[in-house]
This record gives sequence, structure tokens and C-alpha cells, in this order.
Amino acid sequence: MNKKIVLTGIKPTGYIHLGNYVGAIKPALNLAQQDNLIPIYFIADYHALTSINNPSDYRRYIYSLAATWLSLGLNPDKVIFYKQSDLPEVFELTWILSCLTPKGLMNRAHAYKSKVDINIERGLDIDNGINMGLYTYPILMAADILLFNADIVPVGKDQVQHIEIARDIALQFNKTYGEIFNIPNYSINEETSVLPGIDGRKMSKSYNNTIPLFESPDKLKKQIFKIKTDSSLPGDPKDPDNSILFSIYKEFATQDQILEMEEKFRNGIGWGQVKQELFDVINNYLEEPRKKYMYYIERHELIDSILKKGAEKARELSSPFLKKIRKAIGAE
Ligand code: ADP
Ligand code: TRP
Repeated sequence: MNKKIVLTGIKPTGYIHLGNYVGAIKPALNLAQQDNLIPIYFIADYHALTSINNPSDYRRYIYSLAATWLSLGLNPDKVIFYKQSDLPEVFELTWILSCLTPKGLMNRAHAYKSKVDINIERGLDIDNGINMGLYTYPILMAADILLFNADIVPVGKDQVQHIEIARDIALQFNKTYGEIFNIPNYSINEETSVLPGIDGRKMSKSYNNTIPLFESPDKLKKQIFKIKTDSSLPGDPKDPDNSILFSIYKEFATQDQILEMEEKFRNGIGWGQVKQELFDVINNYLEEPRKKYMYYIERHELIDSILKKGAEKARELSSPFLKKIRKAIGAE
């Protein structure tokens, strides 16, 4: 039986937060345990260039993201783990796909569209602050996916449109040049597809409402105590299903702890107490990974060598496949 490819990437644009972990990293690491899948996970560093132009920040985020994956359990002997910019094939394929992608498809991509909408709202030129990298971002992402003929792409909900675009591009290519690409599917974890941040909106680097994964326990506690709650008092019964605290708690607690906490909500536990228990559960959960993170983050050469080996493995797959694509389009 042919093994299926599961592939995902994260861009290094800041420090990884609980939302990224629960929505993207944890499900991907669970899939990596399945024997019938070949996991390919990478650092989408050139995607980050659409918004990060400071070289030292850029480097720091790349190492931080690599250390994050490794400390949370990615085993580089089992997972093909690399940095996107180490694979020249990705960028050659991006151009080939660009020439088959209708411009209108990019006009509809939500990251671009929302920037345009903001410009219109503010009475600015519609293209203000928009670079071509942001505009063609979904084509680079399609190349990441199609270069490995990925079957399953685990992502958060906000990335679904990008996978749909990759499917459209693959279909267009196949129609033009013959059946070369597999049509990829996304996989999202419905339960955790949107973890709320401390203000109740989606936890996101862009909203400044995140709880970073690898902060000191003190900082972690501070962030958790900032989570917005309603004005109900200790003693008032509370609805766990309407609580940001409970949504986050569920992701880190055991089944028994979850049931107990639900009971405590009904019995009127105070918000301060919930926050303390949420902190304890997360802090405990992160104790080992935090130590590993500190280990990796101090060893850039080790990370470099892991990513380099990963890129070699990836290129064993991507380079013959790109050759096939070049033949299909008549370049060879
Ligand atoms: P951010 O919104 O913080 O910039 P990214 O866009 O870099 O995060 O997302 C990286 C991955 O993490 C994506 O697969 C995305 O869907 C997932 N993700 C981001 N925020 C959340 C969240 N709050 N809940 C669940 N998944 C998330
Ligand atoms: N666009 C994704 C994000 O912002 C990152 C990404 C780049 C990706 N290439 C990918 C995700 C390929 C899945 C597959 O999170």
C-alpha cells in the first residue's frame, strides 16, 4: 500500500502561542505517529518575508520555531523536517504554477482582500502597503503542497481557503498538462480550530492577545490572569461552554480534570480560582517541553544540521518530481 503524505508548514513571524500549538502543531504531531503516513513538516520561512524585513528578528523566529517543533516531540528521524528556503524546487514550481493561476483567484484570497478592505475603509490607495509576496502568497503555498503530492494538510481554519486555492491550481495544471498532481485535502480539528485569545477573539500574533508557549512560568501566569471574564461572582453558577478559560483548559487537562472542572463551574467556582487551575495545568504540561526548548534554542548548529539533513531528504523526493513536472510542461 502506498503511504499517504501529510504535510504542513508554519511561518516564522513571531513566537508560537497556545493557539498555534493546539490548532496546528499538536494535530500534526499526532498524525506523525501513524504508520500509514509520511509526515513532511517545514518552516515556511519565505512566507514570513511578506511581513518580516528585519534579518535578526527573522533568524530568531526561525530558530525559535524549529526549537518549538523539536521540543514538542517532532522526531527528525521520522518526520521530514526542513526549512522551505533550502528547497530551490519550491520556488521554481511557484513560477510554473503562477503562469497557470488566474489573477482573479489571487484577488479573492482573504489575507490580500482584508488588506484592500482596510485601505478602502481608510480612504487610502487600495494597494497601499501590499507587496507582491503577500498577493501571490497562496501560489507559494500551493507549490509547498503540490511539490510533494501531499494528500493531507493539517491546518487551522484560517488556512482552508489556501488549500482550496492549491486544489484549484492543481486541477488547472492537470487539465493543461495531464495528471501530474494529486488533489490535496485539508484536515482541521473542528474542536480546536479556533482557540480564543485573552480578549476572546481568535488567539493570533496579529491581535496581540496571545499566550506564548515558552515563556517563564511567571509570564505565563500573568497572561492567564489577563484573560477576559464576565462579571459573575464566586458562588454564581457558570456555563463552561461559554468560557474562554474552559475552552483553553480542555486542551491541556486530562478527561477527569475536565469533568471535575465542569462540575466546579456549575457549583460557582470563582474566576480567580479557574485561572489558577488553568495556569497549573498548562504549566505542568509545558514543564518538559520548556526544558527541551531551552536546550535547542542554545544550540543553533544542532538545529542547522537537523534542518539540513531534512532538506536533503526532502530534495530526494522533490527533485525527481520537479523533473517530471519540467518534462510535462516541455522544459525538458
Ligand atoms: P497567527 O494568527 O498567530 O499569526 P499563523 O497564521 O502563523 O498564526 O498560524 C499558524 C498555524 O496555527 C495555522 O495552521 C493556523 O491555522 C493555526 N492557528 C493560529 N491561530 C490559531 C488559533 N487561535 N486556534 C487554532 N489554530 C490556530
Ligand atoms: N500559510 C500557512 C500559515 O500562515 C503556512 C504555510 C505555508 C503552510 N505553506 C504551507 C501550511 C503549506 C500548510 C501547507 O499558517
